[in-house]
This record gives sequence, C-alpha cells and structure tokens, in this order.
Amino acid sequence: MAEDKTINIAIAEDEDFVDPWTVTGKSDTGIDYDKLIKRFGSQKIDDELIQRFEKVIGRKAHHLLRRGIFFSHRDLNVILNLHEAGKKFYLYTGRGPSSDSMHLGHMIPFMFTKWLQDVFNVPLIIQLTDDEKVLWRDIKVEDARKMAYNNAKDIIAIGFDPSNTFIFNDLDFIGQCPAFYQNMLRIQKCVTYNQVKGIFGFGDSDVIGKITFPSIEAAPAFSTTFPFIFENKIVHCLVPCAIDQDPYFRMTRDVAVRLKLPKPSLIHSTFLPALQGAQHKMSASDCNASIFLNDTPKQIKNKINKYAFSGGQITVEEHREKGGNTDVDISYKYLVFFLEDDDKLAEIKKSYESGQMLTGELKKIAIDTITGYVQDYQARRAKVTDEVMHEYFRIRKIDV
Ligand code: TYM
Ligand code: TRP
Repeated sequence: MAEDKTINIAIAEDEDFVDPWTVTGKSDTGIDYDKLIKRFGSQKIDDELIQRFEKVIGRKAHHLLRRGIFFSHRDLNVILNLHEAGKKFYLYTGRGPSSDSMHLGHMIPFMFTKWLQDVFNVPLIIQLTDDEKVLWRDIKVEDARKMAYNNAKDIIAIGFDPSNTFIFNDLDFIGQCPAFYQNMLRIQKCVTYNQVKGIFGFGDSDVIGKITFPSIEAAPAFSTTFPFIFENKIVHCLVPCAIDQDPYFRMTRDVAVRLKLPKPSLIHSTFLPALQGAQHKMSASDCNASIFLNDTPKQIKNKINKYAFSGGQITVEEHREKGGNTDVDISYKYLVFFLEDDDKLAEIKKSYESGQMLTGELKKIAIDTITGYVQDYQARRAKVTDEVMHEYFRIRKIDV
C-alpha cells in the first residue's frame, strides 16, 4: 500500500490491540495512545496544532480537543488551510447500529462533530452501517434496519441541524443512489484480498460480505458519492471518529490516490473506557460495562457505584495518607470527558490526589454530572418523532 503504513496484525503479546471490532489494553491506565499513533502512522495533535486551530476558528478549542481526547489526526492542516482560504469541506461520520440505544462512548465523536459543524458551518453526512452489523453479528436484516432508525433518533437528539445534515442507513439508501454503488465498485477494484487481509485481519472462514464491506464505509468519504448534495463537485472530507475506525480510512486514503480524489482528513478520539477499567472501551455488547443513553438515574447511580473502577486506596486512613490515582480511576476519567468546567475539574483532581476527597465523593460528582448530561439528552430525544427523523433521511439538497 502507498503512503499510509499498513499495520501488522501479528502484534506482540504485550501490546494493546485496537481494530474496528476489538479494543484490549494491557495496562490499568488504558491504551498507550502514543504507541498507537506510531503503529497506525497517524500524527499526534500537539499544542502547536491546537493553537493554530484556535487561531483559524477564532475561538477556544472544544474541551475534548483541549484535553487531548481528540489526540490524533491525518491531514488536519489541509482542513484548516481550506477554511482559511474561505473554501468549504464536508464532515462524514457514522455508527454501526448494534443495539437499540447508543451508549455514552458513542456520544464522543458525535458531540465533537456537532461542535465542528457549528464552528465551520459545513455539511455533515452520517452513515448508519446496518449492513455491517448483519455481517458481523447475529442480527437479521429487518432488525438491523430498526436499530438504525432508533440510533438515528439518538444521533439527531444531539442537536444536528436538518438544513445541512444528511443521515442514511446503508440498507435503504445504497439501492437508491447509483453513484454510491459506482464509487463502491471503483474502490473495490483498487484493493486486493491480500490488502484487506493485512488491514483488517480477515481469514479464510470470513463471509465474503465482510471482505467487500470496507468499500461501503469508504465511499461516503468521496463527495461524488452524493451527487444530489455536491452536484459532482470534488469536495474535501474530514472524518471525526474514535481511533478504532482508522483502518477503514487508511484504506480509503490509499484508494483516493489511485482514484485521483482528495484523501479524506481524519481526527481521532481516544475511547471512553468501560466502567470496569481503562483496558476496555465502553461497548454496546456488555450492558454492565456501559452507561446507555436510555438508562434511568437509578441505573446510572447503581452502575457507577457498583462497577466504576476506583483509583482510591483500600481504607480511609490509607487514602487520606496516599491519595487517589486519577490515572486509573474511571469516575475521574468520565469527568474528563463530560465535565466542561476546567477549574472544577482541576480542583477535583487536586483534592482526590491529595487524599482530601474520598472515592465515594468522587463517584457522587461523576453520578451527578453524567445523570445531568443524560437527562438533558433524554428530554431532547423525546422530541425526535418519526416525522422529524424522516426529514434528515430525505434524499435532497442540503446547505453546502
Ligand atoms: P460504532 O457504532 O462502533 O461506533 C460509532 C462511533 O463511536 C466511536 N466509539 C467510541 N468513541 C469513544 N469511546 C468509545 N467507547 C467508543 N465506542 C465507539 C466509534 O469510533 C465511531 O466513531 N463502522 C462504524 C460506523 C461508521 C463510521 C463511519 C464511524 C460508518 N462510517 C465513519 C466513523 C466514521 C461503527 O460500527 O461504529
Ligand atoms: N454553498 C457553498 C457555500 O456556502 C458553496 C458551494 C456550492 C459548495 N457547491 C458546493 C461547497 C459544494 C461545497 C461543496 O460556500
């Protein structure tokens, strides 16, 4: 493959593992993201880039960017250059509907995408890969479509504007858009079985649908896939996602060169960890490891109290003396993602690490913060009717 490094699937025993389906870290502190950048061949988002970002947009960076949660990128400078030159690009992100309700981890790329859309005032395309979940899980076509619509409502409740947001699910849309299939085919013609095997680790017993699926996630990164929006103009694309989706876009970027289309830029986030600890990402397949957007305040409270891994000491005396460890404490980590107030967060860190604040107190702050977030969210979600949803799915011209 061309410029982007292909990762070697056969990684050493003591290395973290990250691909679109599995995330396993070896340390309590979580994935070693600097190592991942090296292995994937992406770029670190450093202070200099954040400063340039703030200068170009003329406002303070989002807390997920300031706090290093969005930590890695490919060609983000290209996007900033375009914006400085007064030119437009578009945003593309997605979700693979594998559960009726999304969880807090899924909010991370979508919350940030909403901010990017507000800051840059650009069109946004959201793909729901219901087909992916049929291929990878024990899910029927009919059920996958239903989950796609439920998840679409979850996504709409984040607050995307229907005037410049288009949402589609693969099972219903691809058959209605000849340009989509044409681009899929062009992509499929550029990638050999050997290459997808190297990127995704497919083997001889994987069903053939999986082998072509990456072309379906790649196609929306090219504006010519959506002639009703872009009128066949070549427009640059920025993909916000967590780092697990990067393999798809390493492939897409190599294909782009061959198709003489612009390589999509990427901005990657770290994972919101599972309740049990930072070795795992929050995942829809384990309900005790995850806080779902339709959980009740009682469920949130119980899950955090019962499962959230604590960096506190065993006894109060020991805790007062040695203090808590925020590098492994899940309640603290959730606050880094969801508590926007920088001063308050710094105060909590200081107080917990010094032993002044106890685990129970930290958990209470995490419970209150997450419950507040989820309840505000649920109030917006309740307003997303079928009628509201259908507008986002309508094949139409959106503002560009
Ligand atoms: P899916 O449904 O697994 O995840 C949806 C989005 O959420 C991110 N994500 C997380 N982010 C932070 N913390 C977590 N614990 C966490 N778990 C998941 C994912 O990286 C993703 O951004 N194949 C994709 C759907 C897709 C897509 C895209 C995603 C289609 N086109 C373009 C990103 C960009 C999937 O199954 O995502
Ligand atoms: N409407 C765009 C703007 O407000 C200009 C534009 C027209 C455009 N067609 C486009 C931008 C296609 C991106 C893609 O600047």
